[in-house]
Amino acid sequence: MLMRSPLIVGNWKMHKTVAEALGYVTALLPQLAELRGCDIAVAPVFTALSSVAAAAGGAPLQVFAQDVAAEGPTGAFTGEVSAEMVKEAGCQGALIGHSERRRYYGETDAVVSAKTRRALDAGLLPIVCLGETLAERESGAALEVVERQLRAIADALTEDDARRIVIAYEPVWAIGTGRAATPEIAQAMHRQIRSVWEALFGAGAALRVLYGGSVTAENVADFTALPDVDGALVGGASLSPLGFAQLIRQSQAGAPARQAAKPSREADG
Ligand code: 13P
Repeated sequence: MLMRSPLIVGNWKMHKTVAEALGYVTALLPQLAELRGCDIAVAPVFTALSSVAAAAGGAPLQVFAQDVAAEGPTGAFTGEVSAEMVKEAGCQGALIGHSERRRYYGETDAVVSAKTRRALDAGLLPIVCLGETLAERESGAALEVVERQLRAIADALTEDDARRIVIAYEPVWAIGTGRAATPEIAQAMHRQIRSVWEALFGAGAALRVLYGGSVTAENVADFTALPDVDGALVGGASLSPLGFAQLIRQSQAGAPARQAAKPSREADG
């Protein structure tokens, strides 16, 4: 039986020195001691990865990079960090294709697909980020855009790969705006993502799909209660360790409702 265990990830973006990151981990770990049934991760900047991974070592806190190179494991690619190097730093996974990478650094679907491949080959869990812009949503193209982004990833995957990846739906208009998607929008998109995945890889694929975009301790349970939402990718509200711990606790308030709504989905596979 494949379980879609909940996953909450804090994406720190370009925040926190090594010293600040270590202070954060020291404050967060005791807060996670009682936590059961939920995977927790943070995604620090590259320079803090190995220190944070060492500090989290053996604790229920995973460490993800925010990106990996499309090339690797080594080569003449100034400024890039390969998936193998991220793995060696002690990470369990990496964010791939975040909308800020797509927007500001020109990452195309092809680049995102190549990075996903590299992460998988290095033994990292990729969290591949998808999402439409406001203009795309307003023109009625949101489902189509996200499906295109999803299929671009899926095309390069085997059935086995498809079981080792997480998708994050992050509508661009909801990121850092304080304007989260409504639960209806999130549920409809997550259902669509799951349907495409199941059509491609079978109902047992048990894909985890996270929601991201202005998630807070106040609204997280509205999302985690939804039948097709398996957790959250959190930016601003993950930057304080106590605030993030509170958000994690609140996320579990949504979990029983989710199970009651769709008991059979958990047994898929
Ligand atoms: P915010 O939670 O700050 O809106 O950021 C979301 C995000 O981009 C997480 O990857």
